[in-house]
Amino acid sequence: MLYAWHKRGMTIYTVLGIETSCDETAASVVRWRDGRGQILSNCVFSQIDTHAPYGGVVPELAARQHLPLISEMIEHALTQANVTKQQLDAVAATAGPGLIGGVMIGLTTGKAFASALGKPIIPVNHLEAHALTARLSAEVDFPYLLLLVSGGHCQLIVVEALGQYRLLGQTLDDAVGEAFDKTAKYLGLSYPGGPEIEARAAKGDAKRFQLPRPLCGQKHANFSFSGLKTALQQAADHAAPLSAEDINDLCAGMQSAILDCLLDRTAVAADIFIAEYGATANNMVIAGGVAANQVLRQAMQALCQKMSLKLHVAPAALCTDNAAMIAWTGCEYMAFGRLPDQIAAQSMTARPRWPLTELSAKL
Ligand code: KG4
Ligand code: ZN
Repeated sequence: MLYAWHKRGMTIYTVLGIETSCDETAASVVRWRDGRGQILSNCVFSQIDTHAPYGGVVPELAARQHLPLISEMIEHALTQANVTKQQLDAVAATAGPGLIGGVMIGLTTGKAFASALGKPIIPVNHLEAHALTARLSAEVDFPYLLLLVSGGHCQLIVVEALGQYRLLGQTLDDAVGEAFDKTAKYLGLSYPGGPEIEARAAKGDAKRFQLPRPLCGQKHANFSFSGLKTALQQAADHAAPLSAEDINDLCAGMQSAILDCLLDRTAVAADIFIAEYGATANNMVIAGGVAANQVLRQAMQALCQKMSLKLHVAPAALCTDNAAMIAWTGCEYMAFGRLPDQIAAQSMTARPRWPLTELSAKL
């Protein structure tokens, strides 16, 4: 069955994306036109205000908020895109990994919506969507080295092709976004912690508190942040009661330590990437919410320049959770002729855990 419109020899796919895996209820329409993506709408309702008092996302509250909002967000995305339901070629919905209640709501809605319209459903791996987003905003060919840094993940991966991912390193304990969020909570700052720590760090002295750089200098490309988090807490306890200046300095010290770890581990992975992928190893991508950090972007730019890699980072709004990345992943699957079997897709259930490397195993 061919769902794409063929216009003057061009192939066009229009896909609705749905994202509900954490604390954003999001819907978006993206159009794929001969390899280029166009975001027709990108609607995100953030539940930050609900979770802020708890210093982190409360899964049950998140699920309850997605439910009444999701249909409205879909209608909103279609209206803003000026696209009718019938003009859609497919519906893509996050199927995991994430908070199970939210994923169930988004995936079930997507399946029902697609089925009622007689269109295909594409269950999307949230991490894969983060990994492919750079290709929505720029022309980035496979293979590329990916640093995926979010609230739940910290991984270095070679994206070899669509659906083909090779893990070079990952965190042994906390995710990097979690390290930012837990630090913020400990220092009494707001949730999510990353943006506020970045803002405070800009006013602070990164050298005042000497924090460790776990695993730096090691030959493998893994990360560890839990010891660093404990060291920060001990430094904060030692300096208490904390003035605004103390907090700025602690934020600067923590951000600097986290970024040093990211850079050191990425350099190891980049060496492996360049050695093993030869002349095709030209591109590096940073994705996930932490990629919104401007200091990280600048430091990574310098590292990539040194290693003759071209750095690609999606605009900040596409780094944090959104549905455009889910719709785009659906477009990529359609464009590569990899539409999933519809009986299997319709019976797929939400997955709280779903490692990216499992996708490669299926090829
Ligand atoms: O990808 P994302 O939106 O959601 C997950 O899938 O986790 O990432 C959210 C994470 C949070 O931990 C947040 O603190 C972090 O990204 N983050 C940042 C910045 N903006 C968001 N971390 C550091 N600096 C930032 N500017
Ligand atoms: Zn995410």
